[in-house]
Amino acid sequence: MRLFYTFTLLSLSLIFFGCSNESPKSSKKSQAILEMKRATDFHSFSKPDEAIIDHLEWDAIVNFDSRSIEATATYSITSSKDAERIILDIRELNILNVQVDGRDASYEIGEERPFIGSPLSININPDSKEISINYSTQPGADAFLWVEGENPFLFTQSQAILARTWLPCQDSPGVRFTYNAMVKVPPNLMALMSAENPTTKNDQGYYEFKMDQPIPSYLMALAVGDVEFRSVGEHTGVYATPDLIDAAEYEFSEMEDLLVAAEALYGKYRWERYDLLVLPAAFPFGGMENPRLTFATPTIIAGDRSLVSLVAHELAHSWSGNLVTNSTWDDFWLNEGFTVYFEQRIMEAVYGREISEMLACLSYQGLVEEVDVIMDLNPNDTHLRLHLKDRNPDDGMTAIAYDKGYMFLRMLEETVGREEFDVFLKNYFSKHAFQIMDTDNFIEYLNINLLTTKELQEQAKADEWIDGKGLPSNCPVVKSQRIEDVDKAVADWSNGLISSEELDWENWLYQERYRFLTNLGEDVTLAQITELNELYSISSTGNNEILFAWLEQAIRKQHTQSYDRLETFLINVGRRKFLTPLYRAMIETDQLEMAMDIYYNKARKNYHSVATATMDELLPKE
Ligand code: BES
Ligand code: ZN
Repeated sequence: MRLFYTFTLLSLSLIFFGCSNESPKSSKKSQAILEMKRATDFHSFSKPDEAIIDHLEWDAIVNFDSRSIEATATYSITSSKDAERIILDIRELNILNVQVDGRDASYEIGEERPFIGSPLSININPDSKEISINYSTQPGADAFLWVEGENPFLFTQSQAILARTWLPCQDSPGVRFTYNAMVKVPPNLMALMSAENPTTKNDQGYYEFKMDQPIPSYLMALAVGDVEFRSVGEHTGVYATPDLIDAAEYEFSEMEDLLVAAEALYGKYRWERYDLLVLPAAFPFGGMENPRLTFATPTIIAGDRSLVSLVAHELAHSWSGNLVTNSTWDDFWLNEGFTVYFEQRIMEAVYGREISEMLACLSYQGLVEEVDVIMDLNPNDTHLRLHLKDRNPDDGMTAIAYDKGYMFLRMLEETVGREEFDVFLKNYFSKHAFQIMDTDNFIEYLNINLLTTKELQEQAKADEWIDGKGLPSNCPVVKSQRIEDVDKAVADWSNGLISSEELDWENWLYQERYRFLTNLGEDVTLAQITELNELYSISSTGNNEILFAWLEQAIRKQHTQSYDRLETFLINVGRRKFLTPLYRAMIETDQLEMAMDIYYNKARKNYHSVATATMDELLPKE
């Protein structure tokens, strides 16, 4: 196996060095990417082994009135010695003009495929150095969310394969490039990217960006809005709209501590700054690890810093994912499983093991529940290694990649001991920095560097984790006394053994309250939860995770006094992790009419395409 890769590397080097007129800089970069043979990515038309993009100069004008971006993307490229074309991915883009080395060039746009888009194939020769594409985006481009009205806002979400809806690119995680950008926006707004960012607005609405570390296209990001910056540490800061900036500054003031803890664990932070941008509530995710600038939902602003584990997660991606990147979306667990493990370790280092073990318990609970569901639908989707060919890579975003991935790494830690595991992980990140990793190569690396004996390999049962169903027998057991106490309280309270007043609700942390609310059985009555709410005002909590858990119970027990709150929540919050269970709860309890009314008449227009794609599948057509 190893020999094979050495050979491939050698032969590819020959191909690339054989190419006469390329600049030494770009050839060096391509070499770095090619240290491991790139697996076929079924979600991209590009053929990077034939010709690859190295660097992007992006020139763009953002127009809110037409909801479109007019742009020129100029790439430096490296071609193999017999290259005849370079293929980029595009979807929903208007291609206006294509040049190669400053001259109009011929190109072809292939047939469009659902969610993959089309290949843009540009004719080049082995000496071609630069391609330039003049294009505009469509108002409904799937990566975008445009907020109109008094406070206009635009943000992009590129992962997994939406970068191609706003930027022609080789939209595959195995292709990295550096970039510079010049972006023109309306004068009262600031533009931000996954790059070196401005901290103040300027009168012209003209911003320049620089990203000197090569990144894959799914980490390309742009946001435009009336935002302010506050520094919270030497390398850390927050951006938010004026109404949220104070709250954001308070909520995320411990970000530098997280960064320091992360570096102490697994080595130097390679991206210089770590800032966070608070997005409009329509953001479909909790967070997105755009390099140098995490994009985050405002629903993690709880007023008490209780939801910062999400920041630890996105920060951890600066190593797992952004430095060492999954080769294809089938290897998604290498991004997310490693990140959940790293997130847990940061949380433990900063807030102590009691807190991190509560989080681990919640992760385990979510995993067991989801494994059950997936085993009924498609048992192969419980393997760590996915098979997403001909499917939307979004299907891979389940607790398997995240929490089964986490459990696998935790099992490895417990098998060899923490000290040894930490050395292994630190080396793993530094040896593969700015490179790709796939599942086979990770297992090979694991067996050479950590599971060095037959006994250890047998103990770890890596095969069962990677290509086996459900949870292997050596899945770690997570124990938290505080969570066990909550589980006992749930049982006793449900059976009437203790009263609502006797619950320790006021002293419970977010994790305990969340555990309580997500574990109420079917036997719990409307009267019981009504009493609970009257005592502890749960429905008016400022913690959106607790509110979400409450609303799900309210739907299931038909606590109609909470339905106004439910409706406002669903209209304003577009985070898919909240939407799916809430709409599903309405469907499962014969309240479909309410679900349809809220979704189609009031909420859908506010959601991002990532969320509507899922809800459209969940709910019947209008
Ligand atoms: N990179 C993911 C978000 C993502 C994954 C977007 C796949 C598109 C496709 C991000 O790091 C993430 O995992 N976000 C989580 C938060 C986390 C604490 C588990 C989310 O948004 O819920
Ligand atoms: Zn993640």
